[in-house]
Amino acid sequence: MSELFVKVNDLHVEYKSDNGTIGGVKTIYALNGVDLEIKKGEILALAGESGCGKSTLAKTLIRLEKPSSGEILFEDKNIFKMSKDELKNFRRKVQMIFQNPYASLDPKVKIFDTLAEPLKINTNLSDKEIEDIVLDTACKCGLDRDCLKLYPHEFSGGQRQRIAIARALVLNPEFVLADEPVSALDVSIQAQIINLLKDLKEKFNLTFLLITHDMSVIKYLADRIAVMYLGEIVECGTVDEIFNTPKHPYTKALLSAVPDISGREKHKILLRGDLPSPANLPEGCKFHTRCPEVMLKCKENSPSDINLSGSRCVKCFLYEQQKN
Ligand SMILES: Nc1ncnc2c1ncn2[C@@H]1O[C@H](COP(=O)(O)OP(=O)(O)OP(=O)(O)O)[C@@H](O)[C@H]1O
Ligand code: SF4
Ligand SMILES: [Mg+2]
Repeated sequence: MSELFVKVNDLHVEYKSDNGTIGGVKTIYALNGVDLEIKKGEILALAGESGCGKSTLAKTLIRLEKPSSGEILFEDKNIFKMSKDELKNFRRKVQMIFQNPYASLDPKVKIFDTLAEPLKINTNLSDKEIEDIVLDTACKCGLDRDCLKLYPHEFSGGQRQRIAIARALVLNPEFVLADEPVSALDVSIQAQIINLLKDLKEKFNLTFLLITHDMSVIKYLADRIAVMYLGEIVECGTVDEIFNTPKHPYTKALLSAVPDISGREKHKILLRGDLPSPANLPEGCKFHTRCPEVMLKCKENSPSDINLSGSRCVKCFLYEQQKN
């Protein structure tokens, strides 16, 4: 059994949105009690439709958002209660790759300086040592030495994402969060970047949180999947468990849209209505307004996590009898 690396306990994150005088200030409940474990060396994929809270969870994991309650433990330490030294260590070990490589690179800074900057800020290494690390990391990310003299606008989207990935890796991190790392890229180069991530995971011995809409990317890259709905994890398990025997009615619907191995469309489960607004959460099970298997009690009571086996959990009343 791999070592536990990151633990999220009952995490809640809220945003305040001001709709002007008519709408007033609304509270958006983006995360509503997320519990999650990430093990050392694994790729955990976070799946779920737009607006369910995936990016909010990733941003909170790197301290870009603050929770209203709950905690995140990184190597057993609460990341919001770290000392200055612990925080420095955390900032080196945890890095994020964003979706849009056009927005995430400074257009006025040459690639070499973009890659050297984290090392200058976070270490006491000499210029020569920094240069060696930059060259080595760029090479591992498929960038040649000449690229380093150029500016971001001189590169295509795929090359820019390689640069953004190299920048995330120069500090030799242990945990990398990748939020839709290929969805802004041309389909023709997505596979290259996905293969690069797979390769770098081994070379740098990384633990990954991978956010993607693309279930085929999850199938190819991830070890485990956590499925989110309205700010909660509704099911988690290994890739094989989730793809072969999805349990939660939402996971079943999500996967029914993915063609099977022979490319055939399966029986598609169409959900009623849209994702409810996170400013106005449904009572009871948050999925009950769209669930094809809804029961009377689902409208008033919230199911808690049911542990089906070591790796498998599901938040749904249908599995109450199977509690481990
Ligand atoms: N800064 C913000 N201020 C107000 N509301 C926000 C903010 N950021 C996110 N939200 C809202 O919080 C909810 C969760 O958003 P989040 O970006 O985490 O979803 P997501 O799962 O990453 O979606 P997508 O797949 O579209 O990227 C959404 O309703 C979103 O509109
Ligand atoms: S608890 Fe009820 S509404 Fe919620 S997913 Fe299960 S069956 Fe559907
Ligand atoms: Mg997002």
